[in-house]
Amino acid sequence: MGSLTIAPNMVLAPMAGVTDSIFRRLILSLGGCGLVCSEMTNAASVSPRALKRHRLLDYLPEERPLAMQISGNDPELVAQAARTVEALGADILDINCGCPSPKVTGGGHGASLLCDLPKMGRVLRAVREAVHLPITLKYRAGWDDQSLNFLETARVAEEAGINGLTLHPRTREQRYAGEADWSRVAAIKQQVRIPVVGSGDVRSAADALHRLAISGVDGVMIGRAALANPWIFLQVAQLRSGMPPFEPGLDEKYALLRRYLAMCLEELPERVALNKLKQFVGQFVIGAPGSAVLRTCVQRSQSVEAARQWLDEFFLAARSYDRRCPD
Ligand SMILES: Cc1cc2nc3c(=O)[nH]c(=O)nc-3n(C[C@H](O)[C@H](O)[C@H](O)COP(=O)(O)O)c2cc1C
Repeated sequence: MGSLTIAPNMVLAPMAGVTDSIFRRLILSLGGCGLVCSEMTNAASVSPRALKRHRLLDYLPEERPLAMQISGNDPELVAQAARTVEALGADILDINCGCPSPKVTGGGHGASLLCDLPKMGRVLRAVREAVHLPITLKYRAGWDDQSLNFLETARVAEEAGINGLTLHPRTREQRYAGEADWSRVAAIKQQVRIPVVGSGDVRSAADALHRLAISGVDGVMIGRAALANPWIFLQVAQLRSGMPPFEPGLDEKYALLRRYLAMCLEELPERVALNKLKQFVGQFVIGAPGSAVLRTCVQRSQSVEAARQWLDEFFLAARSYDRRCPD
């Protein structure tokens, strides 16, 4: 991306409410992830005072290279936010033109810019002129199936001097329904000279490598699958080097949950830490026997201590089943 080399070319997707500094460090500590990104931040909130309050762009040096993502539709305001992001020490500035949430598109941000490419071009050019750091654009395939303009958007971005593109190849109307059509990502790669990253529905390490190979893109971004399996990046690295991928057992999963909780408690108020744990447990234990009950019990917990007891009970019981269960 510009003068920056991202290696390995596996990227943790920005996820609002999830990929805060703690989660990013947890993922990085497991290995195999080449780039992490902040949660999306409204350009209007990227002032030193607002940043102190909402902490969305907080990070620690060990997270670098780090991308910070902002949204906005006012060229001057976004350019000003870009200068702040550069001063904060981000390695990449990512502009969001993909968020489908009505709260975001209603304000003319995120995916709504796909409906006004001249305006998107003005925003991107203003940002390009404002900062020196590499700029990337993360976007969707179009507003709906009748207005697929991902190739045109790529051209606008490249002409504005953007250094890299990430496409989530669903439309805004699709939200998360249907399948992410990676042939769209491949088509962009054919058209532009800047690096292209694909995002959407990568469910396993083998899947990541398969999509990389068939689409010819420069990198793969992984979102929801990293919540369910934070070792996915490590597994990609292992598969690449011909090693059998690490398969976490119950003990490793339990230890990781406890570590995540400890990190949250160290840095966040207990109420916020509890919510983070609830969110993570919801994805992390999907599929394990008894996991639906655990999720419900943790969801209903009023304190970290209560949630911790449910976790202890679940993993103790699961271990004993594991031992008794014939191979
Ligand atoms: C909970 C959640 C929050 C998200 N927040 C953002 C965001 O802040 N910025 C962004 O560009 N994309 C966001 N996304 C989209 C992801 O970055 C990614 O493109 C999408 O989930 C498809 O990838 P996946 O199938 O690997 O999850 C979010 C996705 C989820 C599930």
